[in-house]
Amino acid sequence: MHQARITLDKDFTVAEVPRRLFGSFVEHLGRCVYTGIFEPGHPAADSQGFRQDVLELVREMGPSIIRYPGGNFVSGYNWEDGVGPVADRPVRLDGAWHSIETNAFGLHEFVEWSRRAGTEVMEAVNLGTRGVEEARALVEYANHSGGTYWSDLRRKNAAAVGLPEDPFGIKIWCLGNELDGPWQIGHKTAEEYGRLAQETAKAMRLVDPTIELVAVGSSGSGMPTFGTWEHTVLSHAYSEVDYISMHAYYQEHQGDVASFLAAGVEMDSFIDGVVATVDAVKAAGKHRKQVNIAFDEWNVWYLHSEEGAEPDQHAAAEWVEHPRLIEDTYSVTDAVVVGTLLNSLLRHGDRVKIANQAQLVNVIAPIRSEQGGPAWRQSSFWPFARMSQHARGQILSLAVESGKMHTKRYGDVDVVDAAATWDEHSGVCALFLANRDISALSEVQLRLNGLSPASVRSAEVLTIPADGDRHTANTEQDQSAVQLVPLDSVSIEESAVRIELPALSWAVVLLDVQNA
Ligand code: AHR
Repeated sequence: MHQARITLDKDFTVAEVPRRLFGSFVEHLGRCVYTGIFEPGHPAADSQGFRQDVLELVREMGPSIIRYPGGNFVSGYNWEDGVGPVADRPVRLDGAWHSIETNAFGLHEFVEWSRRAGTEVMEAVNLGTRGVEEARALVEYANHSGGTYWSDLRRKNAAAVGLPEDPFGIKIWCLGNELDGPWQIGHKTAEEYGRLAQETAKAMRLVDPTIELVAVGSSGSGMPTFGTWEHTVLSHAYSEVDYISMHAYYQEHQGDVASFLAAGVEMDSFIDGVVATVDAVKAAGKHRKQVNIAFDEWNVWYLHSEEGAEPDQHAAAEWVEHPRLIEDTYSVTDAVVVGTLLNSLLRHGDRVKIANQAQLVNVIAPIRSEQGGPAWRQSSFWPFARMSQHARGQILSLAVESGKMHTKRYGDVDVVDAAATWDEHSGVCALFLANRDISALSEVQLRLNGLSPASVRSAEVLTIPADGDRHTANTEQDQSAVQLVPLDSVSIEESAVRIELPALSWAVVLLDVQNA
């Protein structure tokens, strides 16, 4: 058994929990939109074609903000194609995902769907094939009340599809997507992109000064331009933008489960690297305002081509509508990793103000759905849902002394991973804990300074089920093989709390606490 000692102090806080940390992503990719959130004719679809079974799961999972419409898709997308009477919308080839895009679902539909889901819209503009003019037109279309060309067109188009005419009020805008990547349509150098982002941001803000803007950062820490890209882009656009983006996907490489379970360590250092770069540009430019981070794509993603299997990009395949693309099935192990990635994001809530798990439905997603069939929760649904529900108030800075485990990629890492929040109003301290050891228990001793634990409000754990193994996953046939179960091994002993974590687990423990 491993031992870990965690100390928290109610006065040692990181930041207030940014609600936008619990974001998600809907891209026109595979079956995320079509047969995911939108499937006219499905028995659970409403008159708009929105699947109510999927919508209920989305509400339960609780994303606060959803990025749309891409992703790689946006770099070849004309937003005008997705508005107006549906019968008049053009059918296009989407080169990013080798798919036929009918445009039956577009901006009005997404804004309406988001209203019903209770989420904020985070809209990306195309800076791959398009530029300043189309971006500022889109802001006017979306946010201006009326009496101008684009805002009146919104009102007319809204009426044509039977949706509200009022402005969308979109606050957060992404200035393109992954333009550092050679795969991106309209790939750019940092110099080219930095100038374009600066001018586009300026023009968009002249239309609506209340918007917040996200510049494209690196597509991953392994990109050859990582570091210099952020530095160059921000050297141009620091004054004009509010956030720089980060993207990261993790997977188990050739059975190296220990390194995979330590993905959060890599995420920590990736964030620290971007923070350092942002602050270097801030200091050198004598800027007073603070640019923060929008980690607007993160998840576990099995890039099959890397492992020597068939790539699921189908360059040679037929052009079809909403093909089945990157529909990863997530195991217990994957869910524990997702839990540790959420822990990393929460620990960095002083600088990471927005984060979007990619994606929401079917495509590397916590929610799956079948065309004409059911919708269900993947294992990775649970850590997200619980953290979105319970991370409230202040993020606490934790001192963690944990037993170590060796990993090939990151050396020795803590077996126990932790994040915590304290909400003065509800009197709840929420602990999010992971045990990275796949075969041994971990015993956690938690000491609280300035707070006294009165009772355990609830304790749940996601771990290997009794009749399964670390690869067990939810499927259409068995939709609840992996779920949260009560964690009985939590006890308050004098002023400390003892928690026993099963091997390979992610737990959420809610304590009722009083000021000590
Ligand atoms: O989320 C899937 C894809 O991953 C996105 O389209 C792209 O931005 C990233 O490479």
